Amino acid sequence: DWTTGNVIEEQVAAIREQVGDKRAICGLSGGVDSAVAAALVQKAIGSQLTCVYVDHGLMRKGETEQVEKDFVAATGVQLKVVDAEERFLTALKGVSDPEEKRKIIGREFIRVFEQAQAEIIADDGPEVAFLVQGTLYPDVVESGGGTGTANIKSHHNVGGLPEDLEFQLIEPLRKLFKDEVRMVGQELGLPEEIVQRQPFPGPGLGIRIVGEVTKERLDLLRDADAIAREELTAAGLDREIWQCPVVLLADVRSVGVQGDGRTYGHPIVLRPVSSEDAMTADWSRLPYDVLAKISTRITNEVRDVNRVVVDVTSKPPGTIEWE
Ligand code: XMP
Repeated sequence: DWTTGNVIEEQVAAIREQVGDKRAICGLSGGVDSAVAAALVQKAIGSQLTCVYVDHGLMRKGETEQVEKDFVAATGVQLKVVDAEERFLTALKGVSDPEEKRKIIGREFIRVFEQAQAEIIADDGPEVAFLVQGTLYPDVVESGGGTGTANIKSHHNVGGLPEDLEFQLIEPLRKLFKDEVRMVGQELGLPEEIVQRQPFPGPGLGIRIVGEVTKERLDLLRDADAIAREELTAAGLDREIWQCPVVLLADVRSVGVQGDGRTYGHPIVLRPVSSEDAMTADWSRLPYDVLAKISTRITNEVRDVNRVVVDVTSKPPGTIEWE
């Protein structure tokens, strides 16, 4: 009988057996898979687990707090947060090319994570022998079969942790599909915002600013994105939309008239799509009144944005993200 209760019970027993009296490390990305994997392992071995969250400063509004506060409150995990915003911003300075940004973010992420790992081993000793990963069933199948989704993962995934042969892997989600992972997460009492989160790229907002990534631009994009998410949720559209990237065209300026006079600001792009697996996608036909509300609020509330546009391109030919 497949029930979330059975899955949890079975995994908890298996993890206890596997780990014994050793210790484990788990990287949290803010996403569903790593959160549920960590919660399962925490339930099994409690304080023998240490989680690591690298704050690269490229998350959306409230997401880092969700991990630091809500996730910790829900699970009781021991969490090491590394504030690496400065480091990432410095490494990204002057860079506009999307693949270059991805490479830099991926490289810095691995360095910061490895350093945190070394610190934990220095504190806890050689009994740190396991690394938790949120590998899902489709990942397992596809890494053998080599389908398109596997390609997306392999060239996109910043979350892919460094291969380290000294660690044994704990992969408690290996038999589960995404919707099952969400159900298990819910059963474990994880915050709704984490369990129901839509796909979000590893490089975060770093690839949603067309142009150079700066702190000021990130803050501006975070404000615009928060408004779009709030209104889509309020309109009950979360289930219908696969994901909705909100993109800042930082290298484009457009003329507007706001308040007393002429402005010269930046456009924000809304990219709501429907999809089954992100390999193909269609643009979502959002209700006009919802679009109107988002547009009015963003242009009123976000400094330097005087225009909101909607992307009506399917994939192919357009990708879901703009970079
Ligand atoms: P595209 O833009 O290629 O995106 O149509 C397909 C799916 O992949 C996500 N995506 C990424 N995920 N690292 C990730 O972990 C990345 O660099 C990356 N780029 C795109 C995108 O959000 C969509 O769900």
